[in-house]
Amino acid sequence: MSATRGAVIWMTGLSGAGKSTLAGALHQRLKEAGHASIVLDGDVLRRGLTAGLGFTPEDRAENLRRVAHVAALFMQQGFIAIAAVISPEHQHRRMAREIIGEGFVEVFVNAPLMVCEARDAKGLYARARRGEIPHFTGISGPFDVPLDPDVMIETDRVPIDEAVGRLLAHLAAVGCLPRESGHDRPRLAK
Ligand code: ADX
Repeated sequence: MSATRGAVIWMTGLSGAGKSTLAGALHQRLKEAGHASIVLDGDVLRRGLTAGLGFTPEDRAENLRRVAHVAALFMQQGFIAIAAVISPEHQHRRMAREIIGEGFVEVFVNAPLMVCEARDAKGLYARARRGEIPHFTGISGPFDVPLDPDVMIETDRVPIDEAVGRLLAHLAAVGCLPRESGHDRPRLAK
C-alpha cells in the first residue's frame, strides 16, 4: 500500500472564477472515497476566523497567513485541506507555500476576467465598476497571474468532473492519495 500524507490544495483565482465550486466538488469526491478533507473558503472564513479584516494588501496578507496556518494544521493531521482564497499577489502565495511547506499544491483556478465579470454571481463586479469597492481584485486591485502553478484549471473550458479528476491525479502523483485504496489516512464515515 502506498503511503499517504496530508496536503493543502491552495486554489487561487479571481472572484467568480469557480474556486468554491471546485473546492466543494473535490471535497465531495474525497469524502465519497473515505478521505478526510476540509474546505477553507475565503468568503466563509471572513465571517469568523478573519472577520474584521478588509482587502488592503496588509489585511489580505494577514487573512491569508491565518488561512495558511489553519490549513497546515489540518495537513499535519493527514487531511487534504482545500483553501479557496483569491490570494491575488505572488507574495501571498509565496508566504502560504513557506508556512505550509511540503504538501503545498498551488492550483490556479483560471477564468478570464470577462467571464467572471459576466457571471457576477454576487454583484460585486458591477459595484466595483461603479467605483464602490476599493481594492477589488481585477478591477481596482491587482491579480498577479501565477507563473508556475502545480495545476491550472480553466473553469470556462474544463467540465467540473474532469477538473476534479485532474486534481485527484495530481494528489496521487505526489503521493498524497493512494493509487489503490489505502487505509492509512484518517477516514470519515460516509
Ligand atoms: S483574499 O484576497 O484575502 O484571498 P478572500 O478569498 O479571503 O480574498 O475573499 C474574497 C471574497 O471576498 C470574494 O469572493 C468576494 O466575495 C469578497 N470581496 C469583498 N470585497 C472584495 C474585494 N475588494 N476584492 C475581492 N473580493 C472581495
